[in-house]
Amino acid sequence: MAEAKNLGGAGLRGQVAGQTALSTVGQTGAGLTYRGYDVRELARGAVFEEVAYLLLYGELPTQRQLDQYRTKLKGLRELPQALKEVLERIPANAHPMDVMRTGASFLGNLEPEASFAKQHDVTDRLLATFPAVMCYWYRFAHQGVRINTTSEQPGVAGHFLELLHGNAPTDLHRQVMDVSLILYAEHEFNASTFTARVCASTLSDMYSCITGAIGSLRGPLHGGANEAAMAMIEKFSSADEATRGTLDMLERKEKIMGFGHAIYRDSDPRNEIIKEWSKRLAEESGDTFIFPVSEAIDRVMWEQKKLFPNADFYHASAYRFMGIPTELFTPIFVCSRLTGWAAHVFEQRANNRIIRPSAEYTGHAERPFVAINQR
Ligand code: COA
Repeated sequence: MAEAKNLGGAGLRGQVAGQTALSTVGQTGAGLTYRGYDVRELARGAVFEEVAYLLLYGELPTQRQLDQYRTKLKGLRELPQALKEVLERIPANAHPMDVMRTGASFLGNLEPEASFAKQHDVTDRLLATFPAVMCYWYRFAHQGVRINTTSEQPGVAGHFLELLHGNAPTDLHRQVMDVSLILYAEHEFNASTFTARVCASTLSDMYSCITGAIGSLRGPLHGGANEAAMAMIEKFSSADEATRGTLDMLERKEKIMGFGHAIYRDSDPRNEIIKEWSKRLAEESGDTFIFPVSEAIDRVMWEQKKLFPNADFYHASAYRFMGIPTELFTPIFVCSRLTGWAAHVFEQRANNRIIRPSAEYTGHAERPFVAINQR
């Protein structure tokens, strides 16, 4: 750990590693924009497919384009039988992120990207099938049922909730899930997106780029933070206990998941939106401890460390109020961020040079080789 601190530029922090027209993160003004639009305005006024279309096709759709896009995605939801069989073989104790990684990779065996001209179609297929990949496995492994992988829900948000719970979601739940998918859709050169771009820069196929990105998103310092935040929130049964417990964790120099950010310095613009919705869900569900516990942790982190909640922290409680099992939190992130990853792959392919940085060598000076029998 001490060694890492000596490396001033560790983690490539602050270095420009390429160009993008997709989003800005941490700049003055909105804090987060997708193709020039403030994410908070998108979250208040758009549905997820509008944002997916914006990222993948370049501009916000007209009503007609949106209807056509949703209809297209709806027609692509059915999972191939061979993929269902593979999902059925994954054990119930597997991490759902590993299931997503396998799902993306295996679909690439069944329906390979024949050429880059097919990149939009491959992306739309992944976007349409990911909720079913997660829910088919989850419900088969945990409840022993083989679900229908299609639904009449017009969008990804409602489709996912219906597959998970087996019945149509309320308007409120569908709306919150739409907001959540919008907030998670794109975030510039974060670790998983950078993974996707590095992979794309070798002219690899879309499935490989997405599979690699899922692997990067899995870690608790990245997408896994919302799960870790929930696990921590659940340890406390009251706001007072949470205050004391958080102080103790800070005393022991433990990291509090869902706080801090590599780019944002004062706040994460996504937080104010999801916190508002989490509060509303708390009121709707008659919650008496999860939201107060979350706020207590939030307060201590600000008072003690001037650290603010990032997008993951109040997502944890919002998802819990919608009855989503904790281990599915990060896979939902995948269903959304897929749009940002793929848009970055398109961008990388359109103006590509293989990404190949240099390293500062810290090993031995050149030395003579000694044969094994003389060592
Ligand atoms: N809990 C406790 N301390 C934290 C912290 C947290 N969540 N986040 C940052 N810090 C501390 C760091 O340890 C560091 O302290 P030090 O200088 O004494 O070592 C200091 O605050 C500054 O950290 P910073 O340089 O801003 O963070 P980073 O760029 O290295 O890392 C994260 C950014 C996101 C990886 C980091 O904040 C983190 O691990 N957060 C928790 C995981 C998380 O929520 N990830 C999701 C990100 S969207």
